[in-house]
Amino acid sequence: MALLEINELRARYSNSGPEILKGISLEVDEDDFFAIIGPSGAGKSTLIRCINRLVEPTSGTIRFNGHEMTTLSRKRLRELRRDIGMIFQEFNLVDRMSVMDNVLSGRLGYTGNLRTLFRAFPRQDIEHAMNLLDRVGIVDQADKRADKLSGGQRQRVGIARALMQEPKLLLLDEPTSSLDPKISREIMWLI
Ligand SMILES: Nc1ncnc2c1ncn2[C@@H]1O[C@H](COP(=O)(O)OP(=O)(O)OP(=O)(O)O)[C@@H](O)[C@H]1O
Ligand SMILES: [Mg+2]
Repeated sequence: MALLEINELRARYSNSGPEILKGISLEVDEDDFFAIIGPSGAGKSTLIRCINRLVEPTSGTIRFNGHEMTTLSRKRLRELRRDIGMIFQEFNLVDRMSVMDNVLSGRLGYTGNLRTLFRAFPRQDIEHAMNLLDRVGIVDQADKRADKLSGGQRQRVGIARALMQEPKLLLLDEPTSSLDPKISREIMWLI
């Protein structure tokens, strides 16, 4: 069974608006690296957002790890989203938080908001975050505020945060388009 199975997926942003996804079907197996290419406005981001239901599809099915995503309750959806990491074009870091706290926020789905607020993370989470920061090459920046980093460093934080979730599926929406070519290559290599 494929890890992700999309069948005849259709989506539009409003009832009167144009249909953006017109019957998309695809399968992604575990350990696959699956790329979607197409011109600007083709609907690549819309497709990615449908997978974890940031955008609600109008019809079709999305089976992820054996679960039908399109009919899940909010609670079950929250649980399943833990298994899906996302890396964005604009990094989506919390600027006023430290690098470390941004990475730890990847555990949000597990520990709940209050825990993050009081920074009550288990020791093993902090060690895991340090290891990930080491892997992405910015362990020396752990205590810096996120807005004091370069674009490439910010995306490394984004990658570490997504991996902190220990996701089964990693969704990347043009993770290097706001970086220069040299840094882009480094980030793609890292991914
Ligand atoms: N929030 C929204 N509300 C209404 N329409 C939207 C919304 N987001 C995207 N669209 C429209 O949906 C279409 C597909 O957009 P989408 O962002 O999925 O394209 P894309 O392939 O990711 O493009 P790019 O390569 O520029 O990122 C576009 O016509 C866009 O105008
Ligand atoms: Mg896009």
